[in-house]
Amino acid sequence: MQSMLSILLLLLANTTAGYLVPNSPGKYNVTLTTGPLIDYTRNDPYAATPTPRALMLSVFQPATCASTVPVPDMPNKIADYQGPFLEKTFNISVNLTPLFLEARLPVCSDHPDSCSPLDDGPILLFSPGYSIPRLYYNVLASAIASEGFTVITIDHPEDANIIIYPDGHAVYNNASILSSPTWDEYPRAADASFVIDQLSNATAMAELLPQRGPRPFPTDRVAMLGHSVGGASAIIAASRDPRIRGAINWDGTIFGSPPPSGLSQPVQIMSQPVLFMSHQNYADPSWLAAWPQLKGPKLVVYVANTTHYTFSDVPTLFQAAGQSTAPFADLLGTIAPAEMVRILTAYTTAWMNGAFTGKEGGPLLQGQEPGKFPEVSTMMKGNF
Ligand SMILES: *[C@@H]1O[C@H](CO)[C@@H](O)[C@H](O)[C@H]1NC(C)=O
Ligand SMILES: *[C@@H]1O[C@H](CO)[C@@H](O)[C@H](O)[C@H]1NC(C)=O
Ligand SMILES: *[C@@H]1O[C@H](CO)[C@@H](O)[C@H](O)[C@H]1NC(C)=O
Ligand SMILES: *[C@@H]1O[C@H](CO)[C@@H](O)[C@H](O)[C@H]1NC(C)=O
Ligand SMILES: *[C@@H]1O[C@H](CO)[C@@H](O)[C@H](O)[C@H]1NC(C)=O
Repeated sequence: MQSMLSILLLLLANTTAGYLVPNSPGKYNVTLTTGPLIDYTRNDPYAATPTPRALMLSVFQPATCASTVPVPDMPNKIADYQGPFLEKTFNISVNLTPLFLEARLPVCSDHPDSCSPLDDGPILLFSPGYSIPRLYYNVLASAIASEGFTVITIDHPEDANIIIYPDGHAVYNNASILSSPTWDEYPRAADASFVIDQLSNATAMAELLPQRGPRPFPTDRVAMLGHSVGGASAIIAASRDPRIRGAINWDGTIFGSPPPSGLSQPVQIMSQPVLFMSHQNYADPSWLAAWPQLKGPKLVVYVANTTHYTFSDVPTLFQAAGQSTAPFADLLGTIAPAEMVRILTAYTTAWMNGAFTGKEGGPLLQGQEPGKFPEVSTMMKGNF
């Protein structure tokens, strides 16, 4: 493994211009805008001094544009933080910072005359894994957006390992967020509801998306997706906020479920459709515990040859940088990275379309197209 890793570093060190990740595969190209949304009504429970809770967002909008330009996948300061973070988290003796530092994402240039975003399409909020910046999911968010959805990825302060705000200041993970005893205190669901509130706030939208101008977004077609604790957060948020019309959980255990005796089940009874996508072919006990609470369409699928971390951009970055994921099979799985992007995009968009039309179904979700994605199998299914 060590020699492969040395090769990786050498190759990346020589590509000063960076390497390009594949273009988004769908019908549209995408525009990318990043910026903060600040909740002046909530102080951040994990900040050292009273501070309004400030989310950083990436907004991916489907657009028609004649050409795309390569933009950095993440700011240098965030990329620099990832190598040491991953070395420590996974006990690997390689600095993966160059993988993030050199990645370039093809997006529409922000010239209004050469680019027309598809307005007012359905919206998907995305919540990342614990302590992982939202920027680890840029490729996946672009792929989903290229199918005609506005995708908004969210950094939750003190949860993401590092967030950099436009004024340059940084906020780091505060591990005491893990001691949030209940979902009422863990702030991710409230963050999602705040973003939906602000979608109707013309002033806030004009600040976040200056090109769009002071126009609110319709909030009647909003769904939520997440990875890991972000996926669990999508379900919790939807069970508490009926404006979230569907939830998709990529491989996320719902902590506190099943609840210790005396406490109530964290997933409140809900009717919105819920899709679970798993890396293992047995249902997570917390999903089984939540299952009876889900009164709408519900589905658990398993993706073979994946791990918990295949549900991120990391395998795609390896491939785009010209590196095999084989030495990292234990961490990243063996499925072809592009195939995983296709699977996650196909299931997520099919599930959202069903949520917004009020009718989940179709051959893919019904398991009637086994040849299409042989890695995917249905584990549990209900109410559709
Ligand atoms: C972490 O959060 C706790 C509240 O749980 C707060 O008292 C503490 O100051 C925070 N630490 C930092 C470094 O912000
Ligand atoms: C997307 O951009 C590429 C160039 O990067 C262009 O060839 C293609 O026509 C564009 N497609 C759409 C739908 O805008
Ligand atoms: C980290 O990896 C090294 C070398 O593989 C091993 O000796 C060490 O025990 C590991 N540390 C932890 C905390 O797992
Ligand atoms: C709307 O957004 C503006 C700008 O961020 C903010 O000052 C205002 O408080 C927001 N209004 C509401 C009702 O949240
Ligand atoms: C998993 O990968 C192996 C090769 O690594 C392949 O033989 C097998 O068919 C894959 N399983 C599925 C369900 O795609």
